[in-house]
Amino acid sequence: MCGIVGYVGKKEALPILINGLRRLEYRGYDSAGIVVHSGDKALVVKSVGRIDHLHEKLKGHKISGSVGIAHTRWATHGGVSHENAHPHMDCSGQLILVHNGIIENYRELKKELSSKHSFKSETDTEVLAHLIESYYDGDLRKAVEKALSKVRGTYGLVAMHTQEPNKLVAARLGSPLAIGVGDNEYYIASDTSPMLAHTQQVIFLDDGEIAEVTDKHLQLYTLEDQRVYKQAEHIDWDEAQAEKQGYDHFMLKEIFDQPTVIQDAYRGRLDLENGTAHLGGFNMNEEQLRQINRIVLIACGTASYAAMVGKYAFERLAGIPTEVDVASEFRYRDTIIDEHTLVFAVSQSGETADTIAAVKEAKRKGGVVRGIVNVVGSTIARETDGGTYIHAGPELAVASTKAYTNMVTVLLLYAIQLGRLKRLTIATGERLVKGILEIPDKMKQVLAQSEQIKALAEKYKGYGDFFFLGRGINYPVALEGSLKLKEITYIHSEAYPGGEMKHGPIALLSGEFPVMAIVTKNQLYEKMLSNVEEVRARNAPVILVATEGDEQVKSLATDIMYVPSTMELLEPLINTIPLQLFAYHMAVILGRDVDRPRNLAKSVTVE
Ligand code: F6R
Repeated sequence: MCGIVGYVGKKEALPILINGLRRLEYRGYDSAGIVVHSGDKALVVKSVGRIDHLHEKLKGHKISGSVGIAHTRWATHGGVSHENAHPHMDCSGQLILVHNGIIENYRELKKELSSKHSFKSETDTEVLAHLIESYYDGDLRKAVEKALSKVRGTYGLVAMHTQEPNKLVAARLGSPLAIGVGDNEYYIASDTSPMLAHTQQVIFLDDGEIAEVTDKHLQLYTLEDQRVYKQAEHIDWDEAQAEKQGYDHFMLKEIFDQPTVIQDAYRGRLDLENGTAHLGGFNMNEEQLRQINRIVLIACGTASYAAMVGKYAFERLAGIPTEVDVASEFRYRDTIIDEHTLVFAVSQSGETADTIAAVKEAKRKGGVVRGIVNVVGSTIARETDGGTYIHAGPELAVASTKAYTNMVTVLLLYAIQLGRLKRLTIATGERLVKGILEIPDKMKQVLAQSEQIKALAEKYKGYGDFFFLGRGINYPVALEGSLKLKEITYIHSEAYPGGEMKHGPIALLSGEFPVMAIVTKNQLYEKMLSNVEEVRARNAPVILVATEGDEQVKSLATDIMYVPSTMELLEPLINTIPLQLFAYHMAVILGRDVDRPRNLAKSVTVE
């Protein structure tokens, strides 16, 4: 939540900061602000609303300077207002700060400071600005260090002071910050996307580190004032991946990216000859792997639905009992984890606060914790003792699509690899590997139906409620289809396992409550058809996701979206796509903000 950008170098800071904010807008978009140091002054401009509003407002100002910071906000403390937008300043207006995170003891600190400081906003961040001011005696880094020693909570922050022009101070505890290293210039941001156009050399701050950055040097310290030395890492993602490339929305581009990016998830990791996969991320020898007797998958939202697909795969292929735990529940439960439990944290951003906390808890309990993560260098990637990048590339639409696909793929590969060490035959392993290699072409066949699915969305646009039904491996698909629809269209929708309908939810059904059911030809096909019959008997319109060539379902359906057949365990890689497209087209038809739905942010870095 909230995105931060900073620049210090020789170029004009303003366009770099504005473009950087646009890259980070997915992290929050209720207000934004910017400050550029120019001459001996710092010019602060803020605005409520999107980055476009801020950009418009900036047109009325003459701003030139090569040092600045900027922020896009997702409100936590204090409503959405001009005063609460970042940057925040101290009483003198010389110390200027942007912050992502939560200062938990801000009320106590505010009380202590209030006799000598006056506050303009309701935010915890402004308290931090005044706290730094109270320690400032000409050395910004030292003042920030002292202030942070009094703070409880989380922060990624960047501060500047007009008495020390050409200097930015950045610090991190719990909220990500990366520093892009250019030629006598540095880019600071919440993730690497704002810097990709300028450099691929990046240093990731770890918790408890503070950086002093000028156009001549970058020096890292611990909060205890010890020097830290780090090499920059090379980041493979390039700028083009973060562009819409002619698509109307990032979400549509990311849906259509799937046949390509799935190959990045499995390239070099499949072994057809031995019917297996090779992922280095276990960081365990075969003997240790054989001793794993339980798997726990922790994740939130869409990542948790990808994890559910993983559960089916681990249980079926490797015979290992597997649970999926929503991270926000896992962290507050008496979870049972021991050294034979393999824990996977699944996360696109690698920055989801609940998942990070669950990782820490699982490690404390002695579990073997590995990450399945998209964002390189993110907190979960660094907190876990191994794991695998899913290589989906930058995912910028708030609603996750291609990252889900690549999470499912990597989980399948792990299940095949573990399965081959346990009970999976080489023949079934081979079939799975072949099946995965065929997925990109099958995905393209579904994507080619985008216009038909759009027509379907048009037909159903007037309905206010939807049900999604699936069984077995398609139950998580139903959950994901339902989440996609509700989060970007704001239409009420629910997902149930097909067999569970009659235990209550069926009472809701009527001709006004369309049901989307996944009835592809697998071992539960007949069971699902019976569930669909139950729905039809209540006059609900029925939209089916069915296997190509299946004529039998025609008599049951109001409408059908056909998909190519594949092995049952691989079905989520195909069957989710029509549901993504349905949600996407519906959102466009209803005039929703597809890439930035209301109330949401892409990285949920607060509890
Ligand atoms: C839904 C969506 C969210 C995320 C969830 C976890 O489309 O994107 O439900 O899946 O917030 O985020 P990550 O994967 O970054 O941990």
